Amino acid sequence: MKYQTAITKIEDEREFVRGYSLEELTTKKSFVETVYLVLRGELPTAAETRLLNALLTAAIDHGPGTASGQVARIVASAQNSPHTALAAGILAMGERHGGAIEGAARFFQENKETGHIAGLVQSLKEQKIRLPGYGHAVLTHDGRSDVLLGVAKETGFYGPHCALAEKIGAVLNQISSKPIPLNIDGAMAAILLDMGFDWRLTKGFFIIARVPGLVAHIYEEMAGGEGLRRVPEEEIEYSGPEPRAL
Ligand SMILES: CC(C)(COP(=O)(O)OP(=O)(O)OC[C@H]1O[C@@H](n2cnc3c(N)ncnc32)[C@H](O)[C@@H]1OP(=O)(O)O)[C@@H](O)C(=O)NCCC(=O)NCCS
Repeated sequence: MKYQTAITKIEDEREFVRGYSLEELTTKKSFVETVYLVLRGELPTAAETRLLNALLTAAIDHGPGTASGQVARIVASAQNSPHTALAAGILAMGERHGGAIEGAARFFQENKETGHIAGLVQSLKEQKIRLPGYGHAVLTHDGRSDVLLGVAKETGFYGPHCALAEKIGAVLNQISSKPIPLNIDGAMAAILLDMGFDWRLTKGFFIIARVPGLVAHIYEEMAGGEGLRRVPEEEIEYSGPEPRAL
């Protein structure tokens, strides 16, 4: 079965990405511009480059406490190869961490035209459904979202999805027991949609952004020689039956 692809062509020992010579891209374009090209099919404008650069920079790392950072370091500490630890970190991204970007983008796209957004948010809250892209385990306010929405405004990409994301955040905070900030997943999702990307690509952007951070954590773990990481016994509470006779 043939692969049909519009991404890369290799011909006469030369490579072309989306029709542009890779040699020329290498010397004339940045990594961010080429990421945009490979995913979108066309080169970005200066404004698109600036905004995508901001998105990828803001999500580069969030410390070893995150699910992906923790898992990558634990797997590295067991002396697996770097790519095994990296894959493990990426696999730790789920609906509550990293993967929330996709759910948020889908929700924004599907509800862009919804007139009664406040009623919908209220109803989801009553059903105890958590809106992807909102809330944070340690932050009451996610400054990364403010910065990104600011750059989106400056570059002319603050559109209906960004406005919807902020409106949902305002409603959610009125009816919640604690601050539920628009988090980086939610802000990135709204901005990528306003840039014209499909929601199905959004998780890929988060992964592209976070891989350098994970690689740094894996290297730090391997070079540091901390030994095998383990959950401390004092943090483990046994709740099963007491030892008993067979
Ligand atoms: C990230 C997350 C797991 C942190 O949870 P947490 O701070 O431990 O929140 P809690 O479990 O203490 O919940 C506190 C209250 O906020 C509510 N809440 C938290 N996140 C919510 C969300 N995204 N949408 C609606 N309500 C939310 C809870 O339902 C709970 O309400 P209640 O007190 O009325 O029952 C959570 O906010 C979440 O699941 N968010 C959606 C996934 C997401 O965007 N993840 C990316 C994080 S960067």
